[in-house]
Amino acid sequence: MSNDLKKLERNPYQYNGEFTLFGNKQGSNNSLEKKLYIESYGCAMNFSDSEIVAAVLSKNGYTTTEKLEDASLILLNTCSIREKAEQTIRKRLEKFNKIKRTNKFLKVGILGCMAERLKSKLIEEEKIVDLVVGPDAYKDLPNLINEVEKGQRAINVLLSKDETYSDITPHRLNTNGINAFISITRGCDNMCTFCVVPFTRGRERSRDPQSIIEELNDLGEKGYKEVTLLGQNVDSYLWYGGGLKKDFNKTSEIKKSTAINFSKLLELCATNQPKIRIRFSTSNPQDMSLNVIRVMNKYENICNHIHLPVQSGSNKILKAMNRQHSREEYVELINKIKDVIPNCSISQDIIVGFPGESEEDHKETLDLMETVKYSFGYMFKYSERPGTVAQRKLMDDVDEPTKKRRLQEIVELQQKHSLTRTKEFLNKEVEVLIEKTSKKSKLYWSGRNKENTVVVFPKENYNVGDFVNVKITDCTSATLLGSAIEYSKNN
Ligand code: 5AD
Ligand code: SF4
Repeated sequence: MSNDLKKLERNPYQYNGEFTLFGNKQGSNNSLEKKLYIESYGCAMNFSDSEIVAAVLSKNGYTTTEKLEDASLILLNTCSIREKAEQTIRKRLEKFNKIKRTNKFLKVGILGCMAERLKSKLIEEEKIVDLVVGPDAYKDLPNLINEVEKGQRAINVLLSKDETYSDITPHRLNTNGINAFISITRGCDNMCTFCVVPFTRGRERSRDPQSIIEELNDLGEKGYKEVTLLGQNVDSYLWYGGGLKKDFNKTSEIKKSTAINFSKLLELCATNQPKIRIRFSTSNPQDMSLNVIRVMNKYENICNHIHLPVQSGSNKILKAMNRQHSREEYVELINKIKDVIPNCSISQDIIVGFPGESEEDHKETLDLMETVKYSFGYMFKYSERPGTVAQRKLMDDVDEPTKKRRLQEIVELQQKHSLTRTKEFLNKEVEVLIEKTSKKSKLYWSGRNKENTVVVFPKENYNVGDFVNVKITDCTSATLLGSAIEYSKNN
């Protein structure tokens, strides 16, 4: 353990570095209204965590605001996954710096992965930052803010073995009242060699299923229509009374035999709220069981879509990435999925330019894409992250122009496949859950079908939250266009 961490363990609340302390030393800003402005970056988990943060702070008298100028506290929930994500945050802090000059009571905090990765360095490097809080320490926010209001700068980046925030009902932010996230696992044990997540979010642990169902039922009562179960690796979900996934083997036989895995949890969710659409993300090939696929097929309200990152089509690269599956195992899993649910859509994450990726390896990725014909995907250039195995042991040896070109090639191929997939819906009827007005036209609704493709159609007399059967008449690679036929039977 680094000295830095030891120090934080003794006193997680307060950073006692040698920095100029600023803020209102004479008194707190209690006289001011407590207004929280929170911005989230990166994955859905961060957006979901921000709702936990808002709930923790609302107990402490904070209301949320969408106006920066009204805020007494600005929190940035940050992402470290690629270097660019961190640069975005640094730029955003410059903007806050300007606001802070005119509002001496304003406090600024960094939450999430960047807080966890950089710890006290953030306070050293970014003079504007008052507060640094890692993903497992949000319940400590009231104490930390107290310190900050006394003119200290505060930090808690302790990772936890069992924190899942199961006792906190998220305060929904920017909500349309229709779609919501429920986080079911935290952390990741996979240790893909390129990834900072195991370091920033800690070891994998699952949340008590009872609290998940309670949250789901509460959403149902409030009129929500679609829920996405979230985790870095949802298929690895395992509840045996609490604790780390890696300690499951040490538990008693009775606890083992009554454990709840992901397929059981999925079934519980589907049966408890048969009118709510259930989605989940992210899946990892090595943990996805046939039972999960069967449960998906059994319940109409579980959506036909699996986000199944592959990262590369080359076995050599998969091995260097420490992915727990080969190309062949991945394709076999997709075949099994399609055997059970022929119209299940599959999406991907792919990284190009991982250390050692040759032209041949890149071709294998293109070839795998041809085999699967993903519905959509998220594609990235490899970004070396400090502290990861890849950074320590491998040379970032694919030059930038090559990374760019390879990215371009896979993006273009994905677009072609996406169009092939959207065309499959032409002249068919799909069930759409209306989410919002289309960005393109005020006269059109935008929603998604069960396969997670965006569908746009004229509003007529339908409303947000309605399930509507839509006949598809046209498409682009990303969107289906159609006209409503009738309410679906799910209404
Ligand atoms: N560089 C580029 N992409 C990355 N991802 C994770 N770490 C890195 C990295 N160092 C991508 C993976 C993952 C997605 C969330 O982000 O594809 O699945
Ligand atoms: Fe990172 Fe791999 Fe875990 Fe995903 S599965 S969060 S890529 S370590």
